[in-house]
Amino acid sequence: MNYKKLKRRLKKSWHSYDFEKTKTQYASLYNIRLKEKKDIIGIKKAGRLAVDLLNHVEENIKPGITTNYINSLVEEFTKKNNAVSAPLNYNGFPKSVCTSINNVICHGIPDDTVLHDGDIVNIDVTPILEGYYADTSKTFFVGSSGKDAKKIVSVARECLQRGILTVKPKNRIGDIGYAIQRYAEDQGCSVVREYVGHGVGTEFHESPQIPHFGRKGHGIPLVPGMVFTIEPMINLGKHNLHVLSDNWTVVTDDGSLSAQFEHTVLVTNNGFEILTPFD
Ligand code: MF3
Ligand code: CO
Ligand code: CO
Repeated sequence: MNYKKLKRRLKKSWHSYDFEKTKTQYASLYNIRLKEKKDIIGIKKAGRLAVDLLNHVEENIKPGITTNYINSLVEEFTKKNNAVSAPLNYNGFPKSVCTSINNVICHGIPDDTVLHDGDIVNIDVTPILEGYYADTSKTFFVGSSGKDAKKIVSVARECLQRGILTVKPKNRIGDIGYAIQRYAEDQGCSVVREYVGHGVGTEFHESPQIPHFGRKGHGIPLVPGMVFTIEPMINLGKHNLHVLSDNWTVVTDDGSLSAQFEHTVLVTNNGFEILTPFD
């Protein structure tokens, strides 16, 4: 077979009749938009920028800086790369990045709060590049870290890893949450219920929802072309939470530490690809 023919065939297998059929089915049954090759290339590009953003913030994290300073780093870096920050003005969110410290589970708003030695802080970024969204977050140590901080960050990181490893066609959404919940609870930690992963790519939050708890073999079957986030929020104490009067900041009820890691993930023909490849 010559190269041209091979290329045509490969193209055809991706855009095969089955893919088109599944695409239509998933759109009408679940409101899930399966991504085509060109979409995946676009999301990947946004994903690389998102990772660069996290690295840029990480280089500047130290005791004494404010979360507003982190916001300005994200804003400036995003602009320089011809992108837009999805969080800014999203449902009224006032800043370009979420900065969640210690007992803050998610959606912390950058302000004059100063980072202190021993804190942990989650940085959650979502740049829009050429119309495509990539959503990723990491929890960093500020200066030195204590035993509890080390534990919750390592458990949250491992939860994301274990969730991702279940991603392949024919597995189901419930398999992801099951793997995460099992590990978190085995470690004596708890999984946040009220906030979940989500489809992403051509919008910030698309269908489906990806809970970080669940039952093996339950939920929508995974198929190639699905792109969604996995973003477990893991508490050192109980899973219960409340939202502060700013209507955004989510904190643990018991004041315990909470950590989170998030990737944008593609379902491939035989497994997964991480579209926000930080290390
Ligand atoms: N990035 C968050 C997520 O992982 C969403 C933040 S919404 C915002 O889904 F408005 F707070 F930015
Ligand atoms: Co997300
Ligand atoms: Co996010």
